[in-house]
Order: sequence, then structure tokens, then C-alpha cells
Amino acid sequence: MTETFQFRLLAEDGRARRGEISMPRGTIRTPAFMPVGTAGTVKAMYPDQVRELGADIILGNTYHLMLRPGAERVARLGGLHEFARWPHPILTDSGGFQIMSLAALRKLKESGVTFRSHVDGQVHELSPERSIEIQGLLDSDIQMQLDECIRLPAEREEIERAMELSLRWAERSAAAFGEQPGKAMFGIVQGGDQPDLRIRSAERLSAMNLKGYAVGGLAVGEPQSVMLEMLDVTLPAMPHAKPRYLMGVGTPDDLLESVRRGIDMFDCVMPTRAGRHGLAYTRFGKLNLKNARHAEDSRPLDEQSDCSAARDYSRAYLHHLVKANEILGAMLLTWVNLSYYQFLMQGIRDAIEAGRYDDYVASVKEGWARGEA
Ligand code: GUN
Repeated sequence: MTETFQFRLLAEDGRARRGEISMPRGTIRTPAFMPVGTAGTVKAMYPDQVRELGADIILGNTYHLMLRPGAERVARLGGLHEFARWPHPILTDSGGFQIMSLAALRKLKESGVTFRSHVDGQVHELSPERSIEIQGLLDSDIQMQLDECIRLPAEREEIERAMELSLRWAERSAAAFGEQPGKAMFGIVQGGDQPDLRIRSAERLSAMNLKGYAVGGLAVGEPQSVMLEMLDVTLPAMPHAKPRYLMGVGTPDDLLESVRRGIDMFDCVMPTRAGRHGLAYTRFGKLNLKNARHAEDSRPLDEQSDCSAARDYSRAYLHHLVKANEILGAMLLTWVNLSYYQFLMQGIRDAIEAGRYDDYVASVKEGWARGEA
């Protein structure tokens, strides 16, 4: 552990990178998958359990924690790590995603955005400066600039406007963050599905000399092929020696293909949300436990898994829990899915170190294609 935020590249295989972020609260092995803990909880999981699965860092959300319980309250209670009993690094998103996802509840101006709370209807203002202030009150280790994420497809003019606004907000966010040696603020590349706008955004952000960079505005309605093409054009325009974070992505296949192109960090609600909806990710692909074909299947999801939920409970029991809407169904399947995602990330890291990333990807995909026994 170190006093300052540091990123080291340990190995490279093609464009895929194996690295390490060191910070006062811990070391993050990259490529990393960050479980999403929007409201200060990785839903349906105990914090210790998230850690045991191999997560070095989790994500929290400025927007949700600002509304409830409030950033000042969390600060009075000792910060988010203490409050949520997660002593390891936390990355907080800035509220930029909610500009898209809660479009009906917000007004956008140059100075910032106002949201009408989905909780109690009260109006909250989020400027780049206030977003950084909130992330500081939460005591977040990696803070994100406020940006404007937009849905695709969109007109080029609209994409360019949001990208340019996000660059101005990056400057203001960086000024508000100032110098904090043990923490980092990341900028966010926007530019939709327009290669030249992506490159312009990446180059202008690079010139700001931030500690890390994210790619935003992807997995927002475009096909996977477009997302990967954007990574192909954007990543070479981003600093090689800084961590690169693909926001809000994705499926296991998205992770494999994005690491191949040079991404170091991910977050996504997919494993947790899917778990609450009866879906399981395993070495054999994705299974829908609601399906009647599991009703009398006494086999576990994966008898060789390290995860007790995948190894020790029958598919029939999981099917029953999901059909009966039992809380344990959501808990077990969330555990299965986060366990699989972390297993995949460990495999990715090992394969890059061994210089056999392409072979690893091929063998993982073969397992999905073969399906269950
Ligand atoms: N999460 C997923 N995509 C985005 C994005 O473009 N911006 C922010 N702030 N968060 C995201």
C-alpha cells in the first residue's frame, strides 16, 4: 500500500494489460471488475462476502447517496467506508449517468443539472463542483468528473454538444478536486458513435493530465460491434500509462473483448441485477432459472465452482426460490454471478501475465458455446 495513487503496468499481451493501482486503502488488481453498490450496498450481498469473492473495489453513486441518506450525513457518520463497512477502495460515479437515465426528472444548463428527487420530489442541484464536493464528503477514493452521458442513436450535433460540455465540466471538476495525492479524479471520454469526436475528447482530456480516464457513453443502445469499434479508435488516443475504465459494461463477452482492446476497469449492474431476476452466469453460459426445465433438476449450477451457491444448491431449489420470489433466490444468484465475474477477471489477469490472452478468450467462449453437461 502507498500514500499516493499509483498505477503500474505489470504485463501486456497485445493491447491487453495487466496492472495494479495502489492507494492508501488498498491495491486494485487490473483488469478489475467493480461490483455496483449504488446506495451504499452491493444489493443482496454482505460486504465481507463481496471482498471474499475477490473484489478490490466497489462503486457507489453520487446521485443516489445525495438524495438518501445525504452526503453531509454520511460524512458526519465517518464517511462511506465506515458507514457501509467496506474499508477497501471505493469509486463513486458523478451523477452523469443519471442525466441520461433520469432524463424526465432533470434540467440541464451550462452550470450543471437540477434533478427532481425520485424519492420525495425535492429539487437537488448537481454542478461539477458540487458533484466533487459530495464525492469528497463520501470520502471516495476514485472520483469521477460530472459529464453528460447520452443515449444512442443520437444526432451528431447533439453528441458533439454533450461531448464539449463534458470537456468543460472536466476542467471544472479537476479544479474543484485540486491536489489530493492519495485519491484520484478520472475524466470521462464522450463522443457517442462518432470516431473523430471520441478522439477529440480523448486528446483534450489527456492534455489535462488526470490520474485516470474513463470511456463513457457506451452500452447505451448501440450494438456491441459499435461499442468495440469505438474502443478501437479511442484507446490509442488515451494515455498508455494511466488506468482506463469502461463505464457501465457489461456482459462477460463485453469484458473479454474490451480487455483485448486495452480496458483496465469495469463496473456493471449486470451480475447483481440479473441475479435478482433469476438469471445465472456460469462457465457454461447464461441460465434462466425461471425456466420450467429446471424444476426437477437436482444438479448444481457448477459442481466444480469455488462458490457454494453454484456448487451446493440444486437447480430445482434455485428454480423454486425464484418462482416463489424468495429473498434467498436473489441472494444465491447474486453470489453465483459476482463469483463468476470475479473468476473471469482472475482468469483474464492470469492469461495476460502468461501471454496467452487470445487462447484464454477462445477457451472461455468454447465453454459458453458447449453449454451445460
Ligand atoms: N455509467 C455508464 N456510462 C456512463 C457515462 O457515460 N457517464 C457516467 N458518469 N457514468 C456512466
